[in-house]
Amino acid sequence: MSAPESSALIDPQTASAEIDLTALADNVRALADLVAPAELMVVVKADAYGHGMIPCAEAARTAGATWLGVATIGEACALRAAGDSGRVFCWLFGEDEDLVRPIALGIDVAVHHPAQLSRVVAAAATAGAPARVHLKIDTGLSRNGCPPELWDDLCSDAATAVESGAVEIVAVWSHFASSDEPDHPANERQLAVFEAAVARARAAGLTVPIRHIANSAAALRMPTARFELVRVGIAAYGVDPADGDLAEQAGVRLQPVMRLRAQLLATRAVAAGAAVSYGHRWAARDATVLGLVPLGYADGIPRAGSGWGTDQGTSVEVDGRWVPVVGTVCMDQFVVDLGPGSREEVGDDVTLFGGAGAPSASDWARVCRTIGYEIVTRIGARVPRRYSGGAR
Ligand SMILES: Cc1ncc(COP(=O)(O)O)c(C=O)c1O
Repeated sequence: MSAPESSALIDPQTASAEIDLTALADNVRALADLVAPAELMVVVKADAYGHGMIPCAEAARTAGATWLGVATIGEACALRAAGDSGRVFCWLFGEDEDLVRPIALGIDVAVHHPAQLSRVVAAAATAGAPARVHLKIDTGLSRNGCPPELWDDLCSDAATAVESGAVEIVAVWSHFASSDEPDHPANERQLAVFEAAVARARAAGLTVPIRHIANSAAALRMPTARFELVRVGIAAYGVDPADGDLAEQAGVRLQPVMRLRAQLLATRAVAAGAAVSYGHRWAARDATVLGLVPLGYADGIPRAGSGWGTDQGTSVEVDGRWVPVVGTVCMDQFVVDLGPGSREEVGDDVTLFGGAGAPSASDWARVCRTIGYEIVTRIGARVPRRYSGGAR
């Protein structure tokens, strides 16, 4: 595969997201072993959760991902353009989007409504190739997916389309609402609806070779949800899907794939009472040393991680110590309290999250009242990704 040149506009010495493709490959292998004989789809949408889609896709394939999953047709076509020729599944497209191209490229598409199936059938005729379709049943997420009351119609239309040679039904699939809470009663309810929908599809004459419903959390902690295929995103990137230890409970040791780092751009000794950053929401109680980190909310550093008053912000790691973010996170920079007598110097490396002994994306998420997914995915395009451990 070949990736376009990076358009990142921050100098990589100044700040970068270090992407460890060996860690990604190790995570993928560990997950593939856990779920076997089910196959593993590694979800690389949203630029591989901020890690860089093409290099991560390549590493995931090499480590045994027989499928790649993406949300958009653009993402799926970008994989093909980069040379990926394996199974790619794509599940979110608009009413006016061109379906001929993905079908011609052999990309699997999701269908959740009879009207959508008609569009796919028409596009397959133009493409001159059968469309590979995964029928989606809404088992209770109420996001998309075929409502159960329309399911029989969808299956019977699909059987007609199969008969005509326009489509191949590859799978029936769905998505959990609460798999990050393995004991949540909705999980069993969704599984029951799912299995009933598969039975009805088969009764309508469809062959359903593949069933898939499990994301990372379900793949880790709900063996009965693995069926023939699981769709794993966040766990492949080494972030626990819940704010806890679901992976550890499943006996899988995940390694963080992204280490977000930057250089200290300035240090300054300040007296007690010195107020810091916009709004002066934090002031030094005692004399201390402050450090300047050149990343901000434009780069995906959550403003919710600001240290205001006695509210602890996120922490970063400097020379083995965790030091707090103080004051308001700005668009391009933020300030940390290095502590009195600190010896850090301009140019020293700061790990924001992801390194050994540093805060994790989940640690940041806890402080910012969000999820690790959002922390890694929002790291902006301005931040260069530097890859190690893979082909590049
Ligand atoms: C439909 C679908 N399947 C699978 C995934 C992967 O989920 P996770 O990152 O929790 O493994 C996602 C991610 O949001 C998704 O939208």
